[in-house]
Formats: sequence, structure tokens, C-alpha cells
Amino acid sequence: MTALPAVQASGLVKRFGDLRAVDQIDLEVRHGEIFGVLGPNGAGKTTMLKMLATLLTIDGGRAEIFGVDVAAEPHRVRQLIGVTGQYASVDEDLSATENLWLFGRLQGLRSADARSTARRLLAQFGLEEAADRRISEFSGGMRRRLDLAASLITRPPLIFLDEPTTGLDPRTRGQMWDTIRELVSDGCTVLLTTQYLDEADQLADRVCVIDHGRKVAEGTPDALKTQVGDSTLQLELATGADAALARAVVLRVLGEEAVSTPESGRLNVPLDIADRAADVLIALREANVAIASVSVAKPSLDEVFLALTGHGAEDAADAGSGDPAGIVPGQDTPSRAGISTEVAR
Ligand SMILES: Nc1ncnc2c1ncn2[C@@H]1O[C@H](COP(=O)(O)OP(=O)(O)O)[C@@H](O)[C@H]1O
Ligand SMILES: [Mg+2]
Repeated sequence: MTALPAVQASGLVKRFGDLRAVDQIDLEVRHGEIFGVLGPNGAGKTTMLKMLATLLTIDGGRAEIFGVDVAAEPHRVRQLIGVTGQYASVDEDLSATENLWLFGRLQGLRSADARSTARRLLAQFGLEEAADRRISEFSGGMRRRLDLAASLITRPPLIFLDEPTTGLDPRTRGQMWDTIRELVSDGCTVLLTTQYLDEADQLADRVCVIDHGRKVAEGTPDALKTQVGDSTLQLELATGADAALARAVVLRVLGEEAVSTPESGRLNVPLDIADRAADVLIALREANVAIASVSVAKPSLDEVFLALTGHGAEDAADAGSGDPAGIVPGQDTPSRAGISTEVAR
């Protein structure tokens, strides 16, 4: 059996006035995988998901869900997908069971079927004890799980999850991850968006990174991390003027370009192996480069972005809170195996 891809999109475009919120994105989500769309606030993740879910018109390009054209046959597509985040409008004064029952009825289930489906889903999502409590008493994590439960009433083969764990505490996040994995082992395909590299890493079989509406990279999470280095050595030089020398030393020792912020004398060095930090520090001392501070960190989304695009994740957001301005890439970041970098800035 040749399974059709769950999502096959090419050249997707969404315009809001002059803004291209989604700009020529190609996407293939394979049957049975968890595909992660990784990007900072404002990158265009939700807009892309909404187009694929028939909730926004497609301005350019085309998309198919299990071979069904999204623009031509939206009603058929809707029967193939579950979308979370639409559930919030349901009555807060009703209990979890009543809400799911109502939702099932709205989806065309008979009363008895809607009731048994509600019971089954509440059990699946660990909400049995809360079954008779009103939604207004639910915590954020419980709401998120109920929302996901509601999107599964019709057992859709493809589920869209828009930032399923943003704002959840670590324990609830872990539960959500387990739930998502269970869905996939039951045969679902999942397309999720996230702002967290670690979430994509934990969950996704494949990831694409988007920035300003464009796809900047695609591959497995491992390939993505390798591109940035498994960890990053962060150096603050005692003298900013040593930056060029320090970068030359890093290049000689590791064969890698450091990413520098000239005005503050800070260097970020991608490391395949955290151990190699020591080699760099020894070589810097031998070259008489004085170091003010040193740390080794796992790559953050911001570093992934910096490596892929030459700018930090925060300045992609409308109201960036950090201060990434002035950060410049050392040079073109070399593209490594397993991942394709589509847009070099
Ligand atoms: N309905 C809309 N009207 C105008 N601009 C929008 C609308 N929805 C989203 N945008 C803009 O499109 C860009 C992408 O937004 P969005 O898809 O929500 O990003 P993300 O989900 O990655 O945070 C942002 O610049 C956002 O301000
Ligand atoms: Mg969003």
C-alpha cells in the first residue's frame, strides 16, 4: 500500500495587505509521522496551519490533505483533520462530559454515541475525575487536553496542533507529549507548531524552520542541531579588540566559524562535542586572548535561528523583548549534512 502524504503543499502564500505572512512554503508531511513547524512568534506558523485546515483562504500555491485539494474540496478536508484551539468557545458552565457530548452532537453523532465517545476520550486524556466539573474550574493543562480530546471526536487521521504546550508547566508539557505520542502510535499523523527547539527535538520525526513566512531549513531534529552544534560555547572576551584573533583561533581548532557580537566582545562557538570547549580555551590562552566569562549551553531556538538566518529569533517577532540588534553572523554558516538550508540571508 502506498500511503498518500498527509500533507502535500507547494508554494503556499498568504498575504495580509503588504505582508506575506506565508511566503512560498513547500511542505510534505508523511503518513504516520509527527512533523514540527518550528519558528518564533510571528513567523507564520498559525497562518500556515489555518490555510491547511481550511480556516483561511490560500492566496497562492496549493495544498492537498491525503490527496484531497484544500481549496477545491474544503468540506472533504475537514472530515480528515482535527484542529485544536476551536474549542474555547464552548460553554464554560458545562461540565467536561457535557461539552464533549455537545461537541459530538454538533459533529453529527447520535446522543448515545456522543456520550460513549466523551467517556472514552476523557479516560484517554486522564480527565475521568474531572468529567463532571465545569470547564471554568479547569487548569490550563486540563483545558489543553480537553481541547485535544474534542478535536478527536471524529477520529481524524491528521491532527493539527498549534503550539500545544506553550504556557504549560514542565510536568503538564510532558503529559501532553506522551498524549501526542500515543495518538501517533494509534495511527494518527500530527502536524504541530512550536517555538521550542526541545519540543521539536523530543517529539518530531522531522522539522521545518520558518522565519518571516519562509522556510529556512528542513530535516530531522538531529540534523538541525548538528547544523548549530550540539552545544554552544559562549565566550566573553576581556578585550573586544581580540575578537578577530579569537575567531581565527576557533577556526583553526574546530574548523568552525564563531558567531560574534562585535560591540560586546561576545563569541558563540558551535560545538559538536561539549568536550571540545577545553581545546578552544587552551588555544585561546596560548594565543594570549583573555577571557572574561565562559559558559557551555545547549543550542536554543535563538541560536538555531542565528545560525540559519543570521539574526536572532526575537527580532522576527513584532515586539521583540530581547536585544538581538547588532548581532551579526561571523560569516556564512557552513551547511552540514542531512539538512537543507533554503534561504541564506
Ligand atoms: N488576520 C491577520 N491580519 C493581519 N496580519 C496578520 C493576521 N494574522 C496574522 N498576521 C500577521 O502575520 C504574521 C504571521 O502571524 P502568525 O501566523 O500568527 O505567526 P506565528 O503563529 O508563527 O506566531 C505576523 O506578522 C502577524 O502579525
Ligand atoms: Mg501562532
